[in-house]
Amino acid sequence: MADLKPLFIVIDGIDGTGKTTQVRFLTEWLQKTGREAESTQEPGGTAAGAVIRSILVNKNMTLDPNAELLLFCADRVDHMQKINSKLNSGISVVSDRFLPSTWAYQIFGRKLQPGLLEAVILHTVHIFPDLTIILDMDIDTALARAGERLAKDEKTITEGRFESEKRDFFSDVQKGFRWYVTQERFGKSVIIDASGKTDEVAGKIQKACSEVICKHHMD
Ligand SMILES: Nc1ncnc2c1ncn2[C@@H]1O[C@H](COP(=O)(O)OP(=O)(O)OP(=O)(O)O)[C@@H](O)[C@H]1O
Ligand SMILES: [Mg+2]
Repeated sequence: MADLKPLFIVIDGIDGTGKTTQVRFLTEWLQKTGREAESTQEPGGTAAGAVIRSILVNKNMTLDPNAELLLFCADRVDHMQKINSKLNSGISVVSDRFLPSTWAYQIFGRKLQPGLLEAVILHTVHIFPDLTIILDMDIDTALARAGERLAKDEKTITEGRFESEKRDFFSDVQKGFRWYVTQERFGKSVIIDASGKTDEVAGKIQKACSEVICKHHMD
């Protein structure tokens, strides 16, 4: 069904909320509903982005907070080329993190002034997602899930720059995600409770997507 409008959907939220799990489910669901769909991620959704990601996730590397912000943005600029080309070929894209993370971690978490990010957005972000889903839940449970996942992947030593931050940091980050959904200029965003079982969360995400798809049909 090549005539279906390709969708650009973002799933974001603090560490361990189930983003990667739900990105996989949503991509499969979109495929089942007749769309060509692919998943991607930030940081590291492109070849150059993978190199940038290796700096960003390495907790043994000291990084100036503004340099960190700009590296995330550099990754995103490169990533958006890929997203655009997929959408232009009729392929829907589900991204594991996007702009909300930069607002939440760098501005609300690291307390950077927003001017630099605002300028970068103005000059580099020309399309916003059809739907941004923010997965939201109790921080401690989410961080425990993220810790288990890192341990399972045996990445606790080399990765986990953000996972090793203090709880207060994540509380600020969570506020940042909640603020993001109030900003209509970034496109339609919703908060979804991610504390339930994987299938329950997937169902809520599909419902939110169905609403966007219905609206597209009516336009
Ligand atoms: N609804 C759920 N209930 C319980 N455990 C879950 C749920 N969703 C995901 N998990 C588990 O929690 C861990 C983290 O999930 P996942 O990797 O999808 O989260 P994430 O948001 O992508 O984390 P990160 O930010 O660290 O990449 C995984 O081990 C996953 O299997
Ligand atoms: Mg993940």
